[in-house]
Amino acid sequence: MEQGKRVKNNTVVRERAMLVGCLFPNSKANKQDPLDELRNLAHAVDAIVVDEVIQNRVKPDPATFIGSGKVDELAERAKAQNIDVIIFDNDLSPTHIGNIEEITNCKVLDRSELILDIFASRARTTEARLQVELAQLEYTYPRLRAMWSHLERITGGAPTGIGTRGPGEQQLEIDRRIVQKKLTALKRELKVVQARKQREVEKRNQDFFTVGLVGYTNAGKSTFFNTATGAEAFAHDMLFATLSTQTRRWELGGGDSVMLSDTVGFVRDLPHHLVASFKATLEEAVHADMLLIVLDISDPQHRQQYETVVHVLDEVGAEDPERLLVLNKVDLLENNADLLVMQQEHPDAIAVSAKTGRGMDRLVDRITAAARGRSRQVTLSLPMNQGKAIHFLESQTQVLSRSWQESVALFTVRIGSTQLERLMAMGAGAEVVEQPTK
Ligand code: GTP
Repeated sequence: MEQGKRVKNNTVVRERAMLVGCLFPNSKANKQDPLDELRNLAHAVDAIVVDEVIQNRVKPDPATFIGSGKVDELAERAKAQNIDVIIFDNDLSPTHIGNIEEITNCKVLDRSELILDIFASRARTTEARLQVELAQLEYTYPRLRAMWSHLERITGGAPTGIGTRGPGEQQLEIDRRIVQKKLTALKRELKVVQARKQREVEKRNQDFFTVGLVGYTNAGKSTFFNTATGAEAFAHDMLFATLSTQTRRWELGGGDSVMLSDTVGFVRDLPHHLVASFKATLEEAVHADMLLIVLDISDPQHRQQYETVVHVLDEVGAEDPERLLVLNKVDLLENNADLLVMQQEHPDAIAVSAKTGRGMDRLVDRITAAARGRSRQVTLSLPMNQGKAIHFLESQTQVLSRSWQESVALFTVRIGSTQLERLMAMGAGAEVVEQPTK
């Protein structure tokens, strides 16, 4: 059963949630509204947010994370408002969860569990499903001990002590072995799927200039993808609507085309296990020739979201591709103040509306120029049986003349330096017979 729902009298009802944020001095949460992101995440699992609580602390309480007096307050508020689940904006240890559940009598979820749950309900491809399952197991594994000792406390306890192993301990051992076995099997399966994907990505990168769309969840990546490629990616006002990378050809006009990939959206403090396991989903981004960072400029949090995206990109090792900032949803702006500030800081940034298509032509020009590289005229010879390379010249460059001598084709073309490199790397035996003219 998904989080956010429970069954009562055989009907599914939405769970009533209380959100709790504990702010430490280095907190990255939005100062004006620290729980805004958690609220969106809770809505993403269809929970009803009934109450919200904030506490400022210097460090976590060892037993209950927030102060013990505050936990008592949570218990009272939860009881008075019929709360089903308490969701923390922080990551809690299994002991914290056990203790808070015991005092409040409510199910307690932390931020990572919530995000993992959303990912689990959205995963559509085999790879995404495997990755989420793996991340969930890795997150659960260290929690098994606390779960069992918590259960023992509730059920009155079992004989424990030196030399004895309570049923909980035995069960824990069995569970551990099952989880370990499952983890190994999942990792093996994932490796096979990823190796296949890696081969696909490498091949695509050889043949095409690749552009990756990255950005905060809900920034408008899927909408952009659809507008650009004429596809029907799942665009929805819902966090993490896209969980699997998809790639399509983007016709830029004039015979130029690139491959465009949509990727999973980012959030602040992405759970550690997800960063690790979703690295592969971001594979396309890491290996792309160019990254478009799509930012919702109409969101008051756009600056912080930009920083999150840049941080995650650095974290997954996507330093090489050229990055271009795309300021999306300009149609929603009431005035241009935020836009001007961002454009002043990022003079290369391009303002667009993925929904109305405004600004897309300027972006297309920029990408075309990047995909071609600096344009030059060159005469090339290549074996006539190299259909793929000849097709590349015919469809992607401006052919000025063509002639055939025995088994060799001679092409004089206007070609970008990047395109020329790509052609030479195709292994078609192409040779430059006349030096490029600038
Ligand atoms: P994730 O799948 O969560 O990563 O989201 P995403 O970045 O793919 O966002 P998506 O394209 O699903 O868009 C989110 C919402 O913003 C949808 O309701 C879109 O219709 C809306 N949207 C996207 N671009 C624009 C835009 O330029 N203008 C306006 N007004 N709305 C937009």
